[in-house]
Amino acid sequence: MRTPVVMGNWKLNGTKSTVTELVKAFSTVANDAKNVDVAVCAPAVFIGMVESLATGSNLKWGSEDCDVHTQGAFTGENSPVMLKEFGCTYAIVGHSERRGYHNETNEVVAAKFKSALDNGLVPVLCIGESEAEYDAGKTLDVCKAEIKAVIDLCGIEAFNNAIIAYEPIWAIGTGKTATPEIAQNVHKGIREFLKTFSAEVADGVRILYGGSCNAKTAPELFSQPDIDGGLIGGASLKVADFTAIIEAAKANA
Ligand code: 13P
Repeated sequence: MRTPVVMGNWKLNGTKSTVTELVKAFSTVANDAKNVDVAVCAPAVFIGMVESLATGSNLKWGSEDCDVHTQGAFTGENSPVMLKEFGCTYAIVGHSERRGYHNETNEVVAAKFKSALDNGLVPVLCIGESEAEYDAGKTLDVCKAEIKAVIDLCGIEAFNNAIIAYEPIWAIGTGKTATPEIAQNVHKGIREFLKTFSAEVADGVRILYGGSCNAKTAPELFSQPDIDGGLIGGASLKVADFTAIIEAAKANA
């Protein structure tokens, strides 16, 4: 049985005041959701604050990205060692916004995944196709290539300590959630692909859905056999919405 995960990705949002409000509220909700892993991934500048506010609760936290290097002359980057020092459990890597706006290739994302893993963080590997790729029926080809780059660099066993987030780009921030059937088919296809390397790893890895997942759509999505929770953007900035999504995960734990 895989423990469900509900993880917020705040992206480039937040103020000291909203971060305080959200972390206080989510810490309480997480304490009440012992059978669900609840986390928020915050802009790096807020991670120290999140640590101070959430320490001692069941709420975990992480970063939205992670550099390949641990230290040195890499202006603007955040090292996995630093993130670990500030109590991060998770590091998102390969979000489509980073792949798109920062030209991160599958190989760069794989290197970031390795850097996070080697330094004690749980990488959350984001994968997913564009609308044009979806229309062309290439969804699974894209997802497999994104995963294969990581397997080539880190080996299949790396997924014993990692999470996959399937986030169709056409569903992110658009309000166009993938239907539970579409998402389940892709998640199943991803798990079957992983099975060709290791049935045990494929069985254990949590695969989250992301892309306009909200209080309304989460219950049916989370009831699908291969959907193990969600990576939540916009709705993770609202106490009531994120709380409702956690409730949906609890119901399927
Ligand atoms: P939205 O939930 O805002 O669509 O964002 C999803 C996402 O990109 C999470 O990483």
